[in-house]
Amino acid sequence: MSDPRYVAAIDQGTTSSRCIVFDGRGGIVSLAQREHRQIFPRPGWVEHDAAEIWSTVEQVVLEALEDAGLAPGDLAAVGITNQRETTVVWDRTTGRPVHNAITWQDTRTADLVSELAGAEGPDRFRDRCGLPLATYFSGPKLVWLLREVPGLAERAARGEVLFGTVDSWLIWNLTGGVDGGVHVTDVTNASRTMLMDLTKLQWDQDTLDTMGVPAAVLPEIKPSSHVYGTARGALAGVPVAAALGDQHAALFGQTAFDRGDVKSTYGTGSFLVLNTGDTLVRSENGLLTTVAYQLDGVPATYALEGSIAVTGALVQWFRDRLGLIHSAAEIETLANTVADSGGCYIVPAFSGLFAPHWRGEARGVITGLTGYVGRGHLARAALEATAWQTREVVDAMRADTGIALTGLRVDGGMTANNTLMQLLADALAVPVARPTVAETTCLGAAYAAGLAVGYWPDLDSLRGNWHKAAEWTPGLDADLRERRFRKWRKAVERSLDWMD
Ligand code: G3P
Repeated sequence: MSDPRYVAAIDQGTTSSRCIVFDGRGGIVSLAQREHRQIFPRPGWVEHDAAEIWSTVEQVVLEALEDAGLAPGDLAAVGITNQRETTVVWDRTTGRPVHNAITWQDTRTADLVSELAGAEGPDRFRDRCGLPLATYFSGPKLVWLLREVPGLAERAARGEVLFGTVDSWLIWNLTGGVDGGVHVTDVTNASRTMLMDLTKLQWDQDTLDTMGVPAAVLPEIKPSSHVYGTARGALAGVPVAAALGDQHAALFGQTAFDRGDVKSTYGTGSFLVLNTGDTLVRSENGLLTTVAYQLDGVPATYALEGSIAVTGALVQWFRDRLGLIHSAAEIETLANTVADSGGCYIVPAFSGLFAPHWRGEARGVITGLTGYVGRGHLARAALEATAWQTREVVDAMRADTGIALTGLRVDGGMTANNTLMQLLADALAVPVARPTVAETTCLGAAYAAGLAVGYWPDLDSLRGNWHKAAEWTPGLDADLRERRFRKWRKAVERSLDWMD
């Protein structure tokens, strides 16, 4: 048999599962995608059915192979990338989840998080895990399940159930499930649990004891690019050779391998990740310290992340709740009917503000309204909200590291909006570049898997695959830019001050 010609990636995201097959130059050979249900049992609660997620993954894998007329033997490896922090607990004997998956957006752990913070405050665990206490992360979600699902704590202590983020759940199922599936996670996903020591890259026993998590339920932590096992089923015989959280995979797919490289992914929310090389930077400016990736047999590369909860979701709100536009793309047309936002600012703190503020109680505000402000100005203010939120994160990155941004590599659905891309370049005063292959998340997982099996020899061989499709250069006068940014910050102050 000839050498396998392709590498596959599975991207299990918040709204859908995708499988993409790539060739050696990072070109897309086939792509399949299926949505899964969003379950909202109560306000602020967001769940997924983990069994449904696994079933959509099985389907997209089959479809991606069939569409291109491929057999598993055509694949050198498969890599996994996933929505992060979403928490699954399942029965190791039956393979069935014990509860719906609690997703990263779910805020049910608000009280638990305050309880854990206690007198020491939200940074109680930050030294160890790089994260502030927030509803966002998996550890408290697991603690909630252990406390609330009858009998689960006892079963967990006896080792009858397994915990995992979505990567673990998929790898366990891909490698055989109840019939010998391997229970592992990678360093990037583990770095979002609050349970891992960022320096040692191992579960932290003190944190486990404090939170009441039995070590028996936890997966083994492995590098991001590593052969975890061999797939069964539709991918029978293919090495399962990478796992990265989706934002980490996007950084890898953008070939942002050098210290100082930054990528930003624009979707429902937006996530900026700055490669800090082998330096673990402890943020003093509201960023998360996280693992960028770890290749097999070498130390980890670290990153600082600025997670923005609401960007594209604001455009969806314009469409679905205000009815000001019919499609997301229309926001650009509407924004271009005016030259500026007419002095209007929208801070979309729909569920508090994430980076760099981390204030769950913040609420959205629209400021600067006059009778002059119309739909076009509001649309423009909505796009500017994404640009100014990005600027806040970039400023925090510079304050933490001294690294001044020289350019920003972008990806994600919102980057189709050229007006937004120009507003971004204007707000940041650096060029903004979009690559030819926009599917950087899947590409990053494919790259990491291909490296693990020698399909690609090294990082240098991947750099040459990155090609610029479009670039926007800053055009706004510096004084005007800074004046507008000061106004934005005033609007944010109002958003933060909203609650009693
Ligand atoms: O941290 C949450 C993030 O990983 C979710 O990404 O693209 O699935 O919405 P996405």
